[in-house]
Amino acid sequence: MTNVLFQPLRIGDIIAPNRVFMSPLTRGRSTDRVPNELMAEYYGQRASAGLIIAEATAISAEGYGWNGAPGIYSEAHVTSWKRVTETVHASGGRIFLQLWHMGRVSHPDFQNGKVPVGPSAIAALGETHTPVGKKPYVVPRALDASEIPRIVNDYATAAGRARDAGFDGVEVHGANGYLIDQFLRNASNRRTDQYGGSIENRVRFLKEVVEAVCQAWSPQRTGLRLSPTMNEKGMADSDPIGLFTYVARTVNCFNLAYLHTAESIRPGRLFNPTAPRVTPHIREVYDGVLVTNGGYEFESATRAIENKEADAIAFGQSFLANPDLPRRFLSGSGLNEPDPALYYTTGPHGYSDYPRID
Ligand SMILES: Cc1cc2nc3c(=O)[nH]c(=O)nc-3n(C[C@H](O)[C@H](O)[C@H](O)COP(=O)(O)O)c2cc1C
Repeated sequence: MTNVLFQPLRIGDIIAPNRVFMSPLTRGRSTDRVPNELMAEYYGQRASAGLIIAEATAISAEGYGWNGAPGIYSEAHVTSWKRVTETVHASGGRIFLQLWHMGRVSHPDFQNGKVPVGPSAIAALGETHTPVGKKPYVVPRALDASEIPRIVNDYATAAGRARDAGFDGVEVHGANGYLIDQFLRNASNRRTDQYGGSIENRVRFLKEVVEAVCQAWSPQRTGLRLSPTMNEKGMADSDPIGLFTYVARTVNCFNLAYLHTAESIRPGRLFNPTAPRVTPHIREVYDGVLVTNGGYEFESATRAIENKEADAIAFGQSFLANPDLPRRFLSGSGLNEPDPALYYTTGPHGYSDYPRID
């Protein structure tokens, strides 16, 4: 019998031929925020993924804040992303783009000296990489409610541009302490207007963004990523299960291509040893396709699908280091080890030069 990871899965308008997805991975290889030929080669190498979710990509200059990250807010971005999507499609793959606004964890060095925006004037904890080295996060400017439609519109415009660039869909980045997540969780959102306070109010911004993206393109082309227990950058919430099951129930009505949770099952990236995992609770209340991620290997991923804990598994660091990951899983071949020292460097080394089994 075929391993469950190799059973096809419908996600919205497209069919993924397997359930081994590539997790979004920021690699900082773009040129002046524009995707390049090296990125096309890297994604093309990984086209055997059931779905590639391409790296977090800024929806606006205001949302930008990571050296070497790409954008999707100009015609030059659209033209250059086309090379990437064409390469993936020519290699038989499918690719979504992750839509990103960094909110308070951008930095004045990326904002012409202006402080970044966030739900409340509360700085993230830790340091960020600016073009001139590491600097502490700054206290952001709290957005006025009247500015929110402009940002919602930026997400919608970016989704339209992603469609024009040939992507198969978009994933709204609601995870990892960026703007949407900052609105969701009450350590970073202390607003007293309709976007703060109750869970319903804190989810309002996410709901408006998802609705606008669905209208700009289609719910069948829209995914959403959440990281319910990620506790880096000072992110926390007093009731993660209550908050994130509310989010899952709220987005049921959109009939999205998928919902994606990033929440590690073992020590490593996105692992929170002090919080119970929320993904099983989301599974109970969410009606659509659920993708999950974090610390999975072939055996644990197979078990998770067999036990119906999720419908597909996204692999981050193992896909980064193994361009032919599905084939390695199928053949039982060993895996290349990822080299974290080369995650965010420049050029092909540690990026497009990981060997294939053939
Ligand atoms: C180098 C690197 C870059 C990442 N960039 C992103 C990103 O752009 N967007 C995102 O949602 N998560 C990002 N993540 C998190 C991964 O998608 C994934 O959730 C995490 O690595 C855990 O999965 P894994 O154990 O399979 O690696 C990144 C992780 C790494 C290691």
